[in-house]
Amino acid sequence: MKSNASAPGKIILFGEHFVVYGVKAILCAINKRVTVSASKIHENTISIKSNIGDLNMPPNKPITEIKSPLKPFYFLANKMIEKHNQNTGIEILVQSEIPLGVGLGSSSACCVAGAAAISRLFSETSKKEILELAIEAERTIFQNTSGADCTVCTFGGIMEYDKKNGFSKINSEPNFHLVIANSKIEHSTEAIVANVKQFKEKNEEKFSNLCKEESELINNVLVLLRNNDLSGLGKNMLKNQEYLETIGISNEKLRSMIELAQESSFGAKITGAGGGGCIIALTDESNLENVVEQFKKKNYECFSAKIDFKGLDTF
Ligand code: PMV
Repeated sequence: MKSNASAPGKIILFGEHFVVYGVKAILCAINKRVTVSASKIHENTISIKSNIGDLNMPPNKPITEIKSPLKPFYFLANKMIEKHNQNTGIEILVQSEIPLGVGLGSSSACCVAGAAAISRLFSETSKKEILELAIEAERTIFQNTSGADCTVCTFGGIMEYDKKNGFSKINSEPNFHLVIANSKIEHSTEAIVANVKQFKEKNEEKFSNLCKEESELINNVLVLLRNNDLSGLGKNMLKNQEYLETIGISNEKLRSMIELAQESSFGAKITGAGGGGCIIALTDESNLENVVEQFKKKNYECFSAKIDFKGLDTF
């Protein structure tokens, strides 16, 4: 028997960094997916094959001994074998359309699709249970994950998230397109979050004002999303970008990418931790090719994306 699942990646539309300090953020699933296939096998091994390498290990190894980035899959397979007390091995195949390590939710999508494909080899599992398993698996690589990424990868669409109240789905279905361009500068989310903490400690009042402004911006954005007001959303992206510039997570390259995007889109900003990673530009269908072309002409790696409303899919 084979169990298949796929889950979308994500972007942060508004509110990264400020969300760490309690402000609401808006996240959005994108139509780039990770697909995971799992099968039981006779050999006593957990075998994982992916486009970033393979991992083959017998079950029951302590998770701390696994150094591979494929660790969450091992964790999930081992957990399910143990839970169902079965004498089986598992073969897992991972295929991803989401670039790695640039804030587009590839690890969360892997954990969600992995949790679904692997757990469903043993029993029917609800989306809620899959999400809990996925967050547990993601904690094997990012101890402090808020769980927001896994949540949006599971349920799809757009959601608001804050630390106190958790997530809630936004029921608007705006019809924008995004162009996502990769700066190819590697970044560590942890290090950048630490830099922002330092900025905050040196500039308490300024930071607190920025949090207030970001909160107001997000409240406006919620209305603009309901009204499918792309021009208004684009303006707010640029405003949000100014706040991100102020807290020091931007750089020359990201700024020049945003400027380039501004020439042809409604607005653009960094998405995620910054310091590198990706920027997003907001556009509509009629102008999509034009925005992509601007980036391609300057040799940037870029692609277009839409909101994914489906979330986790099992088949
Ligand atoms: O780059 P990403 O997608 O890992 O986003 C990090 C988002 C932050 O707000 C900077 C950190 C966080 O934990 O919310």
